[in-house]
Amino acid sequence: MNGATPKIPSAPPVAVVRATQAVQGHLARFARGMSPPAFAVLDLVMSRWISDALGAFTRLGLADALTAGPRDAAALARELELDRGATHRLLRALARSGLLTEHGGAFGLTRQTEVLRRDHPSSMRNMVLEVTAPRNGEVWAALDEAVRTGASAWARAHGDVTMWDYLDEHPEEHAIFHGAMRELTRESAPSLARAVDFGAFRDVCDLGGGSGELLATILALHPGLRGRLVDAEAVVASAPAVLAEHGVADRCAIAPGDFMRGVPAGCHAYLAKNILHGLGDDLAVRLLSDIRGAMAADGRVVIVDVVVPEPTGPYLAYLDLQMLLVSDGGRERTRAELEALLARAGLALESVVATATPMSVAVARQRVGGASAG
Ligand SMILES: C[S@@+](CC[C@H](N)C(=O)[O-])C[C@H]1O[C@@H](n2cnc3c(N)ncnc32)[C@H](O)[C@@H]1O
Repeated sequence: MNGATPKIPSAPPVAVVRATQAVQGHLARFARGMSPPAFAVLDLVMSRWISDALGAFTRLGLADALTAGPRDAAALARELELDRGATHRLLRALARSGLLTEHGGAFGLTRQTEVLRRDHPSSMRNMVLEVTAPRNGEVWAALDEAVRTGASAWARAHGDVTMWDYLDEHPEEHAIFHGAMRELTRESAPSLARAVDFGAFRDVCDLGGGSGELLATILALHPGLRGRLVDAEAVVASAPAVLAEHGVADRCAIAPGDFMRGVPAGCHAYLAKNILHGLGDDLAVRLLSDIRGAMAADGRVVIVDVVVPEPTGPYLAYLDLQMLLVSDGGRERTRAELEALLARAGLALESVVATATPMSVAVARQRVGGASAG
């Protein structure tokens, strides 16, 4: 590791994370079971209000304005040009949910709302803005129709314009979506990068690698390894800064492009994080077949996605609904479903490793006998 490279934090053991999640799940169900059902269900359905309140709190700049310490609503409203009474009501609502402190009329950040500041090292600001964005609200409002028909809510509303094309046309939403991806990947990269011995490869090509957060972490862990980052031109524009931050810019080529029109040839490993879950089966098989055609004979495909039923907790099931809504045939797949896709593409599943994140890391190699008929 070269001297300029920041240390990659260690990842918590998977068993500890899973046990903690299981305990949290049991406690939440126990607490719910103690309430009269009518109030328990009211609590659940109203939790959406908390989500929207956090979105407004973040979008309006209130989290950033509380960086130096607690302040009262009047001072915040004056600085941010908000309505004083309504600001107080928003802050009070968040304080009553335990998400802000409230003493003598002044409101302050808690550990959970501190990460909504844009300068926090574990900032989730973009993620909160993305989840509460009107674009997301619209697709979730169309869940009934998606369940009735099985069809993507996005396609119903936007026709042939994919979400990627839409984001290209809306720079502010583009910045928030890709900022959110970067935040999520930054938090999970230390665990994902250690799930596989990437040091065994000559090079790694990350398809749809966003701003390069995961690839940069992998390269920082393996000083002999070279990388190639593929994503749309506007997305990889933020990659040089990320690669430089990890001290790996000299070992990573940035290749703007569309992986559905061609996969760079000859790499030893191909990485695809949160790519297959956005594709229907036929497109996923097409991409995997193209990777098989492009990769070295002894190469591997490394797929990072939720592999159902891992992990515990509701995350995977709701992410799966998000994919039902925004993609055309995308889904979180079981191990058997993933194996079937790989076989159609002439690949064989070698291993699936659970990580301390909601994602698993699956590794595939060329299949003896080529593609299956299925
Ligand atoms: C869900 S994001 C995942 C980003 C990154 N792998 C991560 O997990 O942080 C999907 C990424 O794939 C990129 N993408 C989607 N379709 C693509 C295509 N046909 N060619 C290149 N990039 C594509 C998007 O721009 C986006 O950055």
